[in-house]
Formats: sequence, C-alpha cells, structure tokens
Amino acid sequence: MNIDFKPSAESDKSERYRLFLQHYAALIEGERDEISVMANTVAALKEAFGFFWVGFYLVKSEQELTLGPFQGSIACYRIRKGRGVCGTAWEKACPLIVPDVDLFPGHIACSSESRSEIVIPIIYNKVIKGVLDIDSDKADSFDETDRKGLEEMVNLMAATLYR
Ligand code: SME
Repeated sequence: MNIDFKPSAESDKSERYRLFLQHYAALIEGERDEISVMANTVAALKEAFGFFWVGFYLVKSEQELTLGPFQGSIACYRIRKGRGVCGTAWEKACPLIVPDVDLFPGHIACSSESRSEIVIPIIYNKVIKGVLDIDSDKADSFDETDRKGLEEMVNLMAATLYR
C-alpha cells in the first residue's frame, strides 16, 4: 500500500478535505475489519491534518462509549451517554463543534491541553455505531468545513464497514 497522506501545501481547507477523501477512499477500499480500518483512519487524519488528538469511541453497550483506535495521548476508556462532548453527540445523534471546551458544561478533559473539539457520530441505517472525536490544543479550530469533510469521511467508512 502506497497512499500519501502527507500534509498538503493547499491552503484551502475544503480542497484539503477533497484531496484527503480521494486518498481515503483508496485506503479503506475492500477492508471490512472495524479495528483495522479505524486504526488506519486515525493515522491518516493525524498525518494529513496534524490533529492534536483524534480517535473513535464505540457504542458497545446502551449506557456508555468505549475507547477505540486513536492517535494522541492516553484517554479515558469509557464515556457515559449524555456525558461530555462525545456522550452528548451520541445522545443527540448529531455532530458537535465546541470552540472553547471550558465553556461546554460537563466537558471531559482527557488532556488539560485540549482547547477545542469536534465530534461526529458514525451512523449507518439509523444506528449509531460510535463517534469520531478530534481535539485541538488551540481554541476555535473547527468549523463547518471540518464538519462537512469529516462527516463525508465517516459516512464512507460506515458504508464500507457495515454494509
Ligand atoms: N473531551 C471528550 C472526552 C474524550 S477526550 O477528548 C479524548 C468529551 O468531553 O467527551
């Protein structure tokens, strides 16, 4: 496998996501093992975008999320439904952008350096399989372009894994 996820010189963020998605489609094509695909997904996101922390929390019970593949410093194993940014995105089944984590009630600080966050639910056939969680060590790092690009990626991943 030789797919290049090196950070692009392209300054336009939506173009960077467009190029990322092209390479990403090739990366996951034909592989249906959840752990393997998620592990390569976070590695590719980390390499392409240099995210501070990027990982998955998976729905393995009705009450809580369980830590899945990630890149970054160690993180909490379990997050209860409705708790923190991840548990709230799971409960509401919608993406969340948090420009300042200190202003989000109940934010769970896995790293004290985290300043802003985006969480994208993984939904397939109306079932939530987990969430993609990305943290930044700078405030206000994520916007609608990130939401759109990451949602597209997560939808592609879910269609490959769960179809
Ligand atoms: N901040 C998250 C917890 C997970 S860590 O960021 C890796 C939250 O509030 O759900």
